[in-house]
Amino acid sequence: MTKVEVSASKAYQVLVGAGLLDQAGERVRAVTKAETAVVVAGDRVAPLYGERAAASLRAAGFRVLLHRIPHGESAKSLAGYGALLGFLAENRVHRGDVLIALGGGVTGDLTGFAASTYQRGMDFVQIPTTLLAAVDSSVGGKTAIDLPTGKNQVGTFYQPALVLCDPETLDTLPEEEFRCGCAEVIKYGVLGDARFFGSLAQTPIREQLEQVITHCVEMKRDIVAQDEYDRGLRQLLNLGHSVGHAVEACSGFTVLHGQAVAVGMAVITRAAYEKGLCFRNTLDALLEMLERYRLPTRTDYGLEELSAAMLADKKLSGGLLRLIVPREIGQCDIVPTPVEELRGWLRAGGIR
Ligand code: NAD
Ligand code: GLY
Repeated sequence: MTKVEVSASKAYQVLVGAGLLDQAGERVRAVTKAETAVVVAGDRVAPLYGERAAASLRAAGFRVLLHRIPHGESAKSLAGYGALLGFLAENRVHRGDVLIALGGGVTGDLTGFAASTYQRGMDFVQIPTTLLAAVDSSVGGKTAIDLPTGKNQVGTFYQPALVLCDPETLDTLPEEEFRCGCAEVIKYGVLGDARFFGSLAQTPIREQLEQVITHCVEMKRDIVAQDEYDRGLRQLLNLGHSVGHAVEACSGFTVLHGQAVAVGMAVITRAAYEKGLCFRNTLDALLEMLERYRLPTRTDYGLEELSAAMLADKKLSGGLLRLIVPREIGQCDIVPTPVEELRGWLRAGGIR
């Protein structure tokens, strides 16, 4: 097992290791005096891991409640949030209790948002069961729900009390979802660690899961420690996300988040190459890595659709988009870009 100490507005540990799911009770007990633990899990994850988590929590003396949510992005909605709050209130859960997000980024974002607002805030624990959640969304305290007008438009910065990542839970993850997590892993290499990036070509991510997750969490920990509230450095984690969110939105969320991020990284790196901001070998290395993990590098959505979706994104402020642009593998810049220049970037990135 590995342990990463995160130091933000709240200090907490991220534990990564096989068998942690069955130790959830004792591990959660070590960080809370709560009487009730509410496990929030999707309708696919609950049957796989809900009872194991609940049994461990019961053995540690918690009253355990399970709140099931639908799988998929639609759970991260005002209605999904309302249903969770209603469940907490009806079951007389109070702010001294603890919420447990058992699942992927959708479950984590929704549960974290409810934890940060229910009775003005209560503890929550993340138990990520997707690779994406393990390396990214379960750490750093961004919580969110979507509005009909866009993704993640309501949310808080609210750190978990603990993150327990049991890589064995990823065994049941559909291949396509696993690959989405690989896109986020590749992202870490591009934005800050060329050696790590190279290691992903030497050894498949699946064969070095615990090390890869730990390394990504350490990288995120270092970024969050310097910029918890996303005012500067943390925006590097949005590499591929400006175009990616637009691809997701254009597809009505049928393109998965990690697939969209892969396309977004490819588009922005193509544009960087065309604009003379990075060398050809940087673009080639990225495209080769995305293809190695069978991730998409192109989209059929056109200039009009994508630019409209990007301009609707909440990250636009003061007429400027903050594009994350690779200079080389392991180094990216945050480039404030006037909206009038967006189409030029997209065109350079191969969007027609
Ligand atoms: P997800 O939560 O929708 O999970 C993907 C699918 O896998 C779901 O159908 C789920 O039921 C299923 N699943 C989960 N774990 C499983 C397992 N072990 N076995 C079998 N099936 C399993 O998707 P995701 O990719 O984990 O997260 C995407 C979400 O995360 C998006 O909403 C995105 O905005 C958000 N996100 C948040 C942050 C953050 O910092 N808060 C960062 C990145 C992404
Ligand atoms: N996944 C982006 C962030 O945590 O900032």
